Amino acid sequence: MNIVNARLRGREGLFQIALDGSQIAAITAQSAEVSASEGDLDAANNLVVAPFVEPHIHLDATLTAGEPNWNMSGTLFEGIERWAERKALVTHEDTKTRAKKTIDMLVDHGIQHVRTHVDVTDPTLAALKAMLEVREETRHLIDLQIVAFPQEGIESYAGGRALMEQAVELGADVVGGIPHFENTRDQGVSSIKFLMDLAERTGCLVDVHCDETDDPQSRFLEVLAEEARVRGMGARVTASHTVAMGSYDNAYCSKLFRLLKMSGINFVSCPTESIHLQGRFDSYPKRRGLTRVAEIDHAGMNVCFGQDSIVDPWYPLGNGNILRILEAGLHICHMLGYEDLKRSLDLITDNSARTLHLGERYGLEVGRPANLLILSAPDDYEMIRTQGHALVSVRHGEVLMRRTPASVQRG
Ligand code: FE2
Repeated sequence: MNIVNARLRGREGLFQIALDGSQIAAITAQSAEVSASEGDLDAANNLVVAPFVEPHIHLDATLTAGEPNWNMSGTLFEGIERWAERKALVTHEDTKTRAKKTIDMLVDHGIQHVRTHVDVTDPTLAALKAMLEVREETRHLIDLQIVAFPQEGIESYAGGRALMEQAVELGADVVGGIPHFENTRDQGVSSIKFLMDLAERTGCLVDVHCDETDDPQSRFLEVLAEEARVRGMGARVTASHTVAMGSYDNAYCSKLFRLLKMSGINFVSCPTESIHLQGRFDSYPKRRGLTRVAEIDHAGMNVCFGQDSIVDPWYPLGNGNILRILEAGLHICHMLGYEDLKRSLDLITDNSARTLHLGERYGLEVGRPANLLILSAPDDYEMIRTQGHALVSVRHGEVLMRRTPASVQRG
C-alpha cells in the first residue's frame, strides 16, 4: 500500500510513503501532486504522522460516572466517595468491557499506543488481572503498557509493597507510585526508593503520580528525579501531573529545574483533569493547578499531554479525542504563541512516544512499523485552529479506522 500526496512535519513539499506489509519501506519526495492508484490512500495535501499516543489514562475506572451516583460537587474528594460505591460493583468482565469500549474510543481518534494506570491496592489484584487479558486481546488495535498503580499508597496501604511486587510478577510493564498521598513525608520518600529499586531490579519502566496537589510543600518530584539521576534511569522514568510545581515559588523552581534537567526524566500533564480538580481550596484568584508545561518544554525537557479520565467519578467528560486535550492544554498553559503552535503535535506524538520509551517501535521512518495517521489539515497550526481529526489510521499496514469529516451545505 502507498500513501500519496502526504505532507510531513518539518519538511517542505509532498511525499509518497510505501508500506511493505508491516514496515515502512520507503518515503520519497513527489515533484507534483499525483492521482492515487487503486488500493492506495490519498492524503490530499494533508499531514501524515505517526499515531497519536495516550500516555496517561485509568482504563479500570473509565465509563463509570453516574453509577450509581453522580459527583455533584466535581471535587476529587467526592470522586473518591463515588468511586468507593462503584468499586463495590466491579467485576472482571465489567472491567474488561469498559476498558475495551474506551480503547475503541481511543482508536477512533487515531491513538495506537496507550499507557494505563491500574489500581493494585486490592488484595485480589482483580483489575490488574482483567487488564492483562485486555492487553493481549487488543494487540491488533493498540500497544498497551500497564502501570502497577498503588492508588491508596505503597507504605500506607496494608501489604502495599507485596502487591506491587506481585503486580510486576504477573506482568505489569511499569511501576507506579503516589508519594504525596502516603501518610507521611518519610513514607512518601521511602515509597519512591522502594519503587525505583523494584523497577531497577525487574527492568520495568517507572511512572509516578507525583505531587498531584496544590500544596507547594509537596516536593517528591525532587526525590524521584534524584533517584533517577543517581541510577542513570532518567529516560525510563516519568513524573505524571506534578501540579504542585504550579504552586512552587520561582526560587525553588530554578534550583529544581537544574536537577530535573540532569535527571533526564519525562513529564506528563493532564490539563483538562487538572484544571477541573485542582484549585478547589482557592477562592479568588484561583490557581490553574497545572505543572509548568511551557517552562519544562522550553527548557528542553520532555513533556506530553494525557487524558487521565474518560467519564469516571473524577471527570465526567471525554470521548477519546486527545486533540481536544491538546487544544485545552495549549490554552491553559499559555502556549498559543506561534512557535508553540507550529510544533504542538509533538505534545501528543513524539514527546509521548519518548515518555513511553517506544524507541524504534515508533516514528515515520523507513524500517519502522507501518503505523500512521492521515490528518485533516496540512500542518500543526491548522490542525489546532480547525479542530481537525485523524481521518485514517493505519496499523501493521492495514486500515484500522476511517473517519468521514462532517460536510456543511449552505442555502
Ligand atoms: Fe492519573
